[in-house]
Amino acid sequence: MFQDKVVWITGASSGIGEAVAHEMARAGAKLVLSARREDELLRVAREIGTKDILILPFDVTDEDILSDVVKQVVDYYGRIDLLLNNAGISHRSYCIDTDMSTYRRLFEVDVFGQIALTQKVLPIMIRQKSGHIAVTASVAGKIGVASRSAYCAAKHAMMGFFDSLRAEVRQHNIRVSCITPGFIRTPVSENALNGDGSRYGKMDDDIKTGMDVSKAAKIIMRGLAKGGKEIVVSQWLESTGLWIKRLFPGLMFWIMAKRAEQEDFK
Ligand SMILES: NC(=O)c1ccc[n+]([C@@H]2O[C@H](COP(=O)([O-])OP(=O)(O)OC[C@H]3O[C@@H](n4cnc5c(N)ncnc54)[C@H](OP(=O)(O)O)[C@@H]3O)[C@@H](O)[C@H]2O)c1
Repeated sequence: MFQDKVVWITGASSGIGEAVAHEMARAGAKLVLSARREDELLRVAREIGTKDILILPFDVTDEDILSDVVKQVVDYYGRIDLLLNNAGISHRSYCIDTDMSTYRRLFEVDVFGQIALTQKVLPIMIRQKSGHIAVTASVAGKIGVASRSAYCAAKHAMMGFFDSLRAEVRQHNIRVSCITPGFIRTPVSENALNGDGSRYGKMDDDIKTGMDVSKAAKIIMRGLAKGGKEIVVSQWLESTGLWIKRLFPGLMFWIMAKRAEQEDFK
């Protein structure tokens, strides 16, 4: 399915992006790996062991350079078959303790960075008359969770954006997939921000007991191969949560408030 396909993964220096990069390489894809830390991208490429990998470090919030990075991919491979918008950051803080600058930072990375890169890649896929754009959203894009108001807002925004985009681009034979992981064991909480924008730096218990990242990557691969519109990657807890939210939203709001009472972010 992915043999010789040009697959561009952002946030490939760690966690989910890194694990999907390994799976894509096994499936024979031609990879473009992006994130800010070039040394980590080089480590990932070395561990994958395939020679022909394009390492393209950049910050997704640096809008001015996006045209150039897209051009570099097209110059190198001639096309882009799949863009996985996976770069992202989270936070751990109640709304009352979250600086507006932290809200803006989350939105710059998790929302505007993805939209801006997608916009630059779209004309290429339209010209090719084919393509696939995916985003790593989250169960937090479906359920509002205490101490994650910026993150949930950003991930809800991405679900809405990509649902709209899907309707617009089907006529161009471009598929759109929203990946909605639950808790996956990655450094996501360590890399999260406190309300004042400093690094949170701890692995949460939910993440510690989350799904193994290689298992998550395999589920994502299967979902992408099928062109899944929503690819849920979760254990029973988050899957049950999604059903409760859909069928009994009032019950989910109550559960989330109860959960918040047990948190120590107050
Ligand atoms: N783990 C979970 O439980 C979970 C659940 C649902 C959704 N997700 C989503 O999955 C995606 C990947 O997260 P993860 O769990 O794999 O966490 P992670 O290990 O912290 O990975 C985040 C990736 O995003 C990159 N990144 C962060 N800011 C960036 C920026 N400004 N420009 C470019 N790249 C940037 C990081 O690389 P550099 O630092 O090198 O830039 C890193 O490669 C995120 O969108 C996250 O919200 C995770």
